[in-house]
Parts: sequence; C-alpha cells; structure tokens
Amino acid sequence: MDWERDGYLTIPDAVSAEDRRRLMDRAAEIVREAADDPVSVFSTHEQSRTSDEWFLSSGGEVRCFFEEEAFDADGRLVVPIERSINKIGHAQHDVDDVYSEVSRRPVMAEAAAAAGMRDPLLLQSMHIFKQPRIGGEVTCHQDATFLYTEPMTVVGLWLALEDATLDNGCLWVEPGGHRGPLRTRFHRAGASDADGTAFTTLDDTPLPEPGRAPLVPVEVPAGTLVLLHGLLPHWSGPNRSGRSREAYSVHLVERDADYPADNWLQRPADLPLRGF
Ligand code: FE2
Repeated sequence: MDWERDGYLTIPDAVSAEDRRRLMDRAAEIVREAADDPVSVFSTHEQSRTSDEWFLSSGGEVRCFFEEEAFDADGRLVVPIERSINKIGHAQHDVDDVYSEVSRRPVMAEAAAAAGMRDPLLLQSMHIFKQPRIGGEVTCHQDATFLYTEPMTVVGLWLALEDATLDNGCLWVEPGGHRGPLRTRFHRAGASDADGTAFTTLDDTPLPEPGRAPLVPVEVPAGTLVLLHGLLPHWSGPNRSGRSREAYSVHLVERDADYPADNWLQRPADLPLRGF
C-alpha cells in the first residue's frame, strides 16, 4: 500500500485495547446521558440530512444521531436506546477528556505526517456504531464533499474499535480513486441553520457502485487505523450481522487552507480548532 498511489493506508495495532475500551465505554455513557435529546436520524441520504438543525449546529457539541431503522412507521423505537444510535458527533475530540486524549496520541500525529500533512487541525470527530442488524449503509462519497477546503486538504483517520469484516459492514475504498475529481460539494443553503443544506455538482464523473469493483473491502482487526485521502471514494454497507462494528474517526485539515463560511460544519467562536 502506498499513500500517493492508493489514497489510503492501514496501520495495524495503532491503538491499545485499553484505549479502544475507554472510547466504547465513554460512548455508552454519552448515549445514556443523551436519552432525552431531540430525535435526529442521521443518514447520508440527502433528504434526511437536509434541514436538520440538530446536525448543523453540532460542530462544537457532542450529540447522538439515531439510526433510521431504529424506529417503526409510527416513530417508536424498536430497539433499546443503547442499540439505536448511528453515531456521536462532532466535537468530542475537543470537549471530552477521554476522546481528546486518544485523539491526540502520538500515533495519530504520525499518521497525519504519513499522509503528508504539515500542520493539521482536528476538525471533527465521529463515534460510529454500525449497530447489529440495523446499522445503516453509508453511501459512496468523498470526505471533501462534506469537509471542503481550498485547496483540498482533508484527511480521515478511521480507527477500528472492533473487527471490521464483510459481515458487519467494513469500509470499501477505490484504490487510486483519490486522483479523480471532487464530484459534489455539500454546503449550507443560507446563513441560518434553519435554511438547511444543498449539494452542488462539481463534476459529472459517477462514483463507484456500492459493494463491487473498483471498490475493494478493507477488512481490518480492531486497533487498526485506516487513513483516507479526502478525495478517495469510499462506502460501507448495512450491518445485518449480530455484531456491531464500532469505529472512531477524526478528520483533519491543514491550518492554512481556506475553510468556507458555508461549509455545514462551523465551530463556535469560543471553540477554535486545535492541532495535536
Ligand atoms: Fe467518509
């Protein structure tokens, strides 16, 4: 594997079993504490994310987002609350001590350097559950669509907290696909969170179809860190197995890149981005 050639890298045994356990325990605690939050279904399907103020105002918060399939047609939870969350986001790497500590382990900074970053800032974090049976698909996308900078600088650090396999919805990537163009940009449609969001097409080249070539599965054991170039098309399927596939991801951008005011993710003025 070669970063320049492939657009992704895997680093086995990057994080200790103890750190993984701490992140999973902390996530479970946050979910228990958040049981009274307003409902927000997280999905990369356009219609559910658009106009979601809970999502748009989460750039400096630690918030839970539900799985679509956690509810029946009448909006009642069909699984226990602790099995209903799609992810926690998007600022726990700065506002939660446990996440901050693990996010800033030397291996994370070394990974950023291996991806050619000079002066990275930690932009957002997500604890992704990929729950048993109901863990949703993440449609094929490029991270630069959602975390846009000029020039393009975003790099994803994706840490497997549990084994990620074909059965429980591992990542799939298009090796070398980062040399293709950015297809779309997701941005705020107006100045207020209530104005919602929109996708703007930048290039008509189609993204790969889910679950087959040129995408290849990235099955990795727990503890592996996967680095993803911001232009690399990637996808993960639904989890129909009985096992969760928890992961923790941090997205980095270069300090000197231009970060547009209409990017969906905005941090409050009193919580500036920080590096490692
Ligand atoms: Fe992604």
